[in-house]
Amino acid sequence: MKQQFLFDKIPAMLHGGDYNPDQWVKYPEILKKDIELMKEARINCVSMGIFAWSMLEPEEGRYQFDWLDERIESLYQNGIYTILATPSGARPAWLDKKYPEAMRVDSYGQRNHHGVRHNHCPSSPAYREKVREMNTQLAKRYGSHPGLILWHVSNEYGGACYCPLCTERFREWLKKKYKTIDQLNDAWWSSFWSHRYTSFEEIEPPFQNGETSMAAMQLDWKRFTTWNTQDFMEEEIKPLREFAPQVPVTTNFMHLYGGLDYAPMAKDLDVISWDSYPFWHRPGESMGHTAAVTAFSHSQMRNYKQGQPFLLMESAPGLVNWQPFNKIRRPGVHRLSSLQSVACGSDSVQYFQFRKNRGSFEQYHGAVVDHEGSDRTRIFREVAQLGEDLAKLAPVAGSRVKTQAALLMDTPNRWAVELISGLSEHKEMMETVCAHYESFTSSGCDLDVISSDTDFSSYKLLILPMLYMISDELGEKLKDYVKQGGVVIATYLLGYVGDTLLAHLGGFPGANLREVFQIWNEEIDSIYPSERNAIRTGDGRLYEVRDYCEVLHTEGAEVLASYEKDYYRDMPAVTLSHYGKGHAIYIGARVEEDYLKKLYFKTAAALGLPVCSLPENVEKHVREDEENLYTFYLNFNDQRVSLHSVTPGGDLLTGQEIGDTAYLEPYGVLCLKSPKS
Ligand code: GLA
Ligand code: ZN
Repeated sequence: MKQQFLFDKIPAMLHGGDYNPDQWVKYPEILKKDIELMKEARINCVSMGIFAWSMLEPEEGRYQFDWLDERIESLYQNGIYTILATPSGARPAWLDKKYPEAMRVDSYGQRNHHGVRHNHCPSSPAYREKVREMNTQLAKRYGSHPGLILWHVSNEYGGACYCPLCTERFREWLKKKYKTIDQLNDAWWSSFWSHRYTSFEEIEPPFQNGETSMAAMQLDWKRFTTWNTQDFMEEEIKPLREFAPQVPVTTNFMHLYGGLDYAPMAKDLDVISWDSYPFWHRPGESMGHTAAVTAFSHSQMRNYKQGQPFLLMESAPGLVNWQPFNKIRRPGVHRLSSLQSVACGSDSVQYFQFRKNRGSFEQYHGAVVDHEGSDRTRIFREVAQLGEDLAKLAPVAGSRVKTQAALLMDTPNRWAVELISGLSEHKEMMETVCAHYESFTSSGCDLDVISSDTDFSSYKLLILPMLYMISDELGEKLKDYVKQGGVVIATYLLGYVGDTLLAHLGGFPGANLREVFQIWNEEIDSIYPSERNAIRTGDGRLYEVRDYCEVLHTEGAEVLASYEKDYYRDMPAVTLSHYGKGHAIYIGARVEEDYLKKLYFKTAAALGLPVCSLPENVEKHVREDEENLYTFYLNFNDQRVSLHSVTPGGDLLTGQEIGDTAYLEPYGVLCLKSPKS
């Protein structure tokens, strides 16, 4: 079986990162040294041009490519490939001066002055035209260079613009969606507080000093912002595909970013990539927890393209400069963090950035090469060591993480929950979703993070944390999934509203799910942070509950746990129903993770998933190709731990054969290759 690589030109893991020679054109010695150091660290690809507009086009229409020609060619001659960015993430001053409409307008309606980055107006025809011209130049000039492997479109798209052009496009978008103003009024329930509109022209974006009371409108604004950003991105991609159709396209996504819905955007991309900057060593937070939250994002990114390997596009060698306290990663943590990405499905480890800039904003951000300039630093040594490890992991490239369990996480549902005016301040949507991810994966099984447009049929188990917004269509899809034999585990807040936030009438859970779960959720109690309740399970054990308790009635479901106190004492808190060939569990309260872990372990084991018991702060992930399994064990403890019931195999990192027991050194990693049985 031929190994499948993301890029045929690099039959291995990618190792490299952002490289900004545009800042160093006056330092030829340094540019020369860069290539030497890259080779020493086994770097095989770099991302260039991300913020290079003012060097590429110093004045309107005067292009300057010689420095980039030289870099791409010299790197290529030395076996280093290029990921080339389009520079739209930051604009030169001349552009904003000549075309002020390119500058974004904030949520108070005030136009930005020139500066910073990631702040263009996505609607501006003038900016779109400038970007088209630039991208055409890049595609024509470099599209067929043998050193080019990938387009990196813009950088970390995000934010929203409230300018008149965007307002006009918002109105057009709404007209297309609702057809008539009457249908919009009904969908937004705008008769409340007399907010009915008589024409689309009366609609403004949700300015902070304007309409902030209509959640459905805010939700549509967020959907529109995604659509408009995606539309801009598609315009960016057009000339690349036209003049260099053989070169794939990515853009770099961000960790738990809530400003855009990446799921539709992913459809325009050939490869998913993202920037991961975990807060390692945060006091009061275990490394295992930081790791689990990071693994959650890896899983989400991997599943934007149905499990295809993704790229870790950026990560910090050493430290960043933007956290409140920029603590340096302890020795060994860089390797551990990087190999976790690979274990979760990345075919690369890339950094921001290769060489530390001499001045300006990110002067103190970690880089492979420090201001000191040599290979003698601890960070450089760790990066070079990782380069060797990645070379040993070449057989893993192209393999996939496969699992039969998934967690449903739709960004619009996150928006809907965050827009709820009610309950309590402790909505903690993403914390909750990640807690479910962490609890499930402590069973040693991988968990896919998917959006609701995914085909559910390859999964035996679906986890639905706080799935508050459910359209009738999604309700049907879930119902059908259970009917056909699927198992779902859902929590409080299930199916309160449809996709314009109108409450489902007839009792929660709505969208026909009451019939599936065989419960009626009559009330939800938000308890104070200082208060606790508990649930009691059949074996008499108590598990603590905080924040939310729903008052449930069974309509046929079996009660697995009931409340310990308050007026709903002894009423159902966790239920199980059988529906069609499957079943459905409902968790009505925010219950402690210990309970979730046990429930998930038991459920996964009963479904025949490969559960195992792992020490605290140890992760297991499995990648596979047609012939082999690659089982990763990662130790997020600064102490040695022992492992039992290991999947035996040869450790690709050390060459040792490992049996069913093994040790993991502090921050240690094993990658065991074993034939599939
Ligand atoms: C982001 C950006 C980079 C850089 C890093 C710093 O991910 O894409 O340009 O600013 O953050 O951590
Ligand atoms: Zn705008």
